[in-house]
Amino acid sequence: MGEKVNAPIGVFDSGVGGLTVAREIMRQLPGESLVYFGDTARVPYGSKSKNTVCKYSRQIVNFLLTKDVKAIVIACNTASALAREEIQRQVNIPVIDVVEPGARMAASSTKNLNIGILGTESTVKSGIYEKYLHRINPEITVVSKACPLFVPLVEEGLLEDRVTEDIVGRYLHEMKEYEIDTLVLGCTHYPLIRGVIGREVGKDVKLVNPAYETAKSLKELLREKDLLAAGESETRYDYYVSDGEEKFIAFADSVLPCHVKNTTVIDIEAY
Ligand code: DGL
Repeated sequence: MGEKVNAPIGVFDSGVGGLTVAREIMRQLPGESLVYFGDTARVPYGSKSKNTVCKYSRQIVNFLLTKDVKAIVIACNTASALAREEIQRQVNIPVIDVVEPGARMAASSTKNLNIGILGTESTVKSGIYEKYLHRINPEITVVSKACPLFVPLVEEGLLEDRVTEDIVGRYLHEMKEYEIDTLVLGCTHYPLIRGVIGREVGKDVKLVNPAYETAKSLKELLREKDLLAAGESETRYDYYVSDGEEKFIAFADSVLPCHVKNTTVIDIEAY
């Protein structure tokens, strides 16, 4: 058991966005080692079909298994929405996605039962948040909006910029009519522009960050399965990408609490 508990946790995303999830895991579970894979060659997933996202996710999970991970975190809303069930069937270690913990928090925080969901086109089209929310409470009204321009704005570093304010205003305009009291930032990049989003919807709307909720759920899950790191070995963070190592490192350094040292480019199609 000693060896297994100190094995790393595999975390993956379509690219850099999942680093917001890795960051929360580092903060809330400082004793855990991580192997992060960002599919920077094939990003974005948010406009791709279920078949494609499942195929990519399967290859990534095959790669992570070669690193003897003890659990897998699907740190991408789109992959969580489209490939979660398939991944769980593929492995016999715990798998956690970002959608379920985010939906659970939204359901417990809403008072007027009107919840907004922001996400990629594929996440919104999948209806996954509605599915989880209605399973918890069928009375909840869900208003969803795909925000495809948010990802490039964040990747360009325009976190507090007039252009971002303008696009956020356009996307959220209609949603304001529904009197939501809770808004889920259902894409890995969106927590990085939560300031602009929060100002647009007003302080009475609670913003839910699935990355934060996922790290909390991961901690509970590892405790339940007796898989929390024993703290006798050094924490390690290893990063793998499928392309664009330098851009990845620059983004990671702006998001993570520590400098990224080991980043390796791999041929993910080989898995
Ligand atoms: N990581 C994706 C998500 O959370 C956003 C980027 C993409 O479209 O691949 O849905």
